[in-house]
Amino acid sequence: MGLREKILDRSAKIGVIGLGYVGLPLAVEFGKAGYTVFGIDVNKGRVDDVKARHSYIQDVSDDDMGSLVAAGKLVATTDYTVLKQIDAVSVCVPTPLRKTRDPDIQYIVDSTAKIRECIHPQMLIVLESTTYPGTTDEILLTEFENAGLKVGQDFYLAFSPERVDPGNPVYGTHNTPKIIGGVTPACTDLAQLLYSNVVERVIPVSSTRAAEMVKLLENTFRAVNIGLVNEIAIICDKLNINVWEVIDAAASKPFGFMPFYPGPGLGGHCIPIDPLYLSWKLKSFNYNARFIELASEINTHMPEYVTTKIARVLNRSKKAVHGSRILVLGAAYKKDITDVRESPSLDVIKLLHEEGAEVDYSDPFVPELHVEHATLHSVPLTAENLRRYDCAVVVTDHTCFDYDLIVSESALVVDCRNAVRKPAPNVVKL
Ligand SMILES: NC(=O)c1ccc[n+]([C@@H]2O[C@H](COP(=O)([O-])OP(=O)(O)OC[C@H]3O[C@@H](n4cnc5c(N)ncnc54)[C@H](O)[C@@H]3O)[C@@H](O)[C@H]2O)c1
Repeated sequence: MGLREKILDRSAKIGVIGLGYVGLPLAVEFGKAGYTVFGIDVNKGRVDDVKARHSYIQDVSDDDMGSLVAAGKLVATTDYTVLKQIDAVSVCVPTPLRKTRDPDIQYIVDSTAKIRECIHPQMLIVLESTTYPGTTDEILLTEFENAGLKVGQDFYLAFSPERVDPGNPVYGTHNTPKIIGGVTPACTDLAQLLYSNVVERVIPVSSTRAAEMVKLLENTFRAVNIGLVNEIAIICDKLNINVWEVIDAAASKPFGFMPFYPGPGLGGHCIPIDPLYLSWKLKSFNYNARFIELASEINTHMPEYVTTKIARVLNRSKKAVHGSRILVLGAAYKKDITDVRESPSLDVIKLLHEEGAEVDYSDPFVPELHVEHATLHSVPLTAENLRRYDCAVVVTDHTCFDYDLIVSESALVVDCRNAVRKPAPNVVKL
């Protein structure tokens, strides 16, 4: 039976490499669609968790995942050799930056080498990790062709960017449209056929490079607009204008304006990182991607800006940052999620600590937080605890925070997210 028939009658065996925020929900969707899925991860702890039917990803319920594991439809393993029996594999490994802020594609390179060891006729490989245009062709295609195989004939290769938005109650893997670009039309066709069984809408594009670029346009669009509005916040502060009021009023325009909001800096595994994959690639063309670099500079500077603002606010109460007790509200990079990767809270805590403040944090989603100087534990948000601090800083606007309590019991509040809606004399906005 050919791959097309196996996809259609659900007998195709699917592999997902990397069971993280992207890979685990995808594996569950393939399982729910009736396929048998093998999830491969180098992290044994994660593999053991899946086997124990314990989901470590907020958007995947224990029930959804557990029932698939119990039925033998989702099998987690650290053993790559299962790929020998797999018909289609999606690669969802991390694509971070190095310390020098250049792309680190080692995880893609490693998994490509492992796939090559097991590649077999008619196998479909889809890269999902966000990366610079050209990666699928230059890394994966080259590696497999070096094994003597012909793309579109012996194996199929495509790129399909993930668009997962952790914590989004409306859009998940199943109902977020998916872009697919294959190396050849046959590659696009087969990848589209497979994904259209798990995702409501699949949009083919003409090449892997176009698909890679789509994701980078989406995330660069966000990074640049957030950079712009962060600069507008700094400008408004200088002019003594409330930036939040200005944005809300501008958003009343029914066309030609889309509101973005300032904040203490970017977080997560996408927006602070992905645009730099693009600007890095452009350097080899002797081109400086100015919007990306400028937005990155402004956004990266925001935790420092917040720290300066806290110092100014404390100064008005005749206090120095040095020796002050400061409670950072929120460790996760955005509201109502557990993810602290690249979170601006980490930078704000570090900078305040360097200035001599005694810093604690409160975040019911993050019981423990590793910062450079220490491991901190979340302080329960009680009236008694709030009264112990000279200043509370809202870095993450979790829905569960009691903002009335925060305002009534804190000496000073610096609100970086416009989370406190009632004006109060002790509240200062970003
Ligand atoms: N998290 C998001 O919101 C999001 C959204 C869209 C796109 N993406 C992109 O998706 C990709 C994955 O991101 P994520 O957030 O799921 O990362 P993650 O860190 O949550 O998960 C990646 C998993 O891959 C595993 N892994 C690493 N190397 C491996 C290897 N060689 N073989 C097998 N497993 C390996 C890790 O142990 C980890 O469990 C990245 O390129 C990211 O930019 C992420």
